[in-house]
Amino acid sequence: MTLTQTVLGLETSCDETAAAVVCLEDGRAEVLSSVVGTQVAEHAPFGGVVPEIAARAHVERIDELARAAMAQAGVGYADLTGVAATAGPGLVGGVMVGLSFGKAVALARGLPLVAVNHLEGHAVSARLGSDVAYPFLLLLVSGGHCQLLEVEGVGACRRLGSTIDDAAGEAFDKIAKTLGLPYPGGPALEKLAEGGDPDRYVLPRMLLGRKDCDFSFSGLKTAAARIAEGLTDEPQRRDLAAAVQTAIAAQLTERSDRAMAAYAAAHAGRGLRFVVAGGVAANRTVRARLETAAAARGFSFHAPPLAYCTDNAAMIALAGAERLALGLQDPLDAAARPRWPLDAAAAAANPTHVPGRKGAKA
Ligand code: KG4
Ligand code: ZN
Repeated sequence: MTLTQTVLGLETSCDETAAAVVCLEDGRAEVLSSVVGTQVAEHAPFGGVVPEIAARAHVERIDELARAAMAQAGVGYADLTGVAATAGPGLVGGVMVGLSFGKAVALARGLPLVAVNHLEGHAVSARLGSDVAYPFLLLLVSGGHCQLLEVEGVGACRRLGSTIDDAAGEAFDKIAKTLGLPYPGGPALEKLAEGGDPDRYVLPRMLLGRKDCDFSFSGLKTAAARIAEGLTDEPQRRDLAAAVQTAIAAQLTERSDRAMAAYAAAHAGRGLRFVVAGGVAANRTVRARLETAAAARGFSFHAPPLAYCTDNAAMIALAGAERLALGLQDPLDAAARPRWPLDAAAAAANPTHVPGRKGAKA
């Protein structure tokens, strides 16, 4: 076991090809480099991610991006203590590209390989910006996932709730599409919502009053699509975008608040930390509402720097480094996994709660 871990991370699970080098020393992470090659332009004509196009684009770029990450970090392969590649969940053709590349580097350089769960990457991403100690309560909100988890430590998660239909990012993307906005819809919808009146349109408040920590966005999506039909007036579109953003943020906050109450009651005397991560954590309204709710419950609030909310390889490198620091590594025949829940027991007990199962990132 090495005290300082210097890890090359690779991420290819969806439409971002990414490579990064992260150094982990005494529990503190430093990002030496992080490069992301987005495929937005390739997928834009189709209004969503096309798996075959994604896989091919990863193949074309992974070499160059890994080289750039190494050069920007100013390290050679001899300086690395390991290689970490996303092994799932995600679009399996793409996952195989990054994982195979990682295996090749590990084999050629005699380095340990870590096959990283992409969701574990998101879970540790807030630790890229500041020192967030374990354990913490995590809201993971991305294009493919929407869940609340108790994170006890590396690889130790317990799911408190998840979406019963769409993921929050998927809802942002689909509603944005009905508003005629380009993919990915989340950032475009946030921009359109600026200065909009969130109270002009009344949207359904899904699952309000339900006693669990699950999410649902399909009713909101249908209601918003109905209003959006034929809406051409710019102020009206702006107000609808603001109403949608507020409704999604309200649900995320209401469910998180419920989870915070349960977590605080179950773990009296423990330091209370609330972390939000994943692409939707980049949304300012979502962040602000969650921060207020966390403060009201006595939780400290943590979110990754904006660059590490959406998919990146720094979070994969860090997740790998944390595992290597504990002496954990994976064999060179580690499989690419299209599905890979963080809390396998909860997923097996409740198989219908498979977040984002219809989305591109399912
Ligand atoms: O974490 P991520 O890059 O990929 C997954 O692992 O799913 O998340 C991408 C998702 C997309 O649905 C995108 O629309 C959403 O995050 N997103 C946002 C914002 N930035 C990205 N949603 C709302 N507001 C944003 N600013
Ligand atoms: Zn992601």
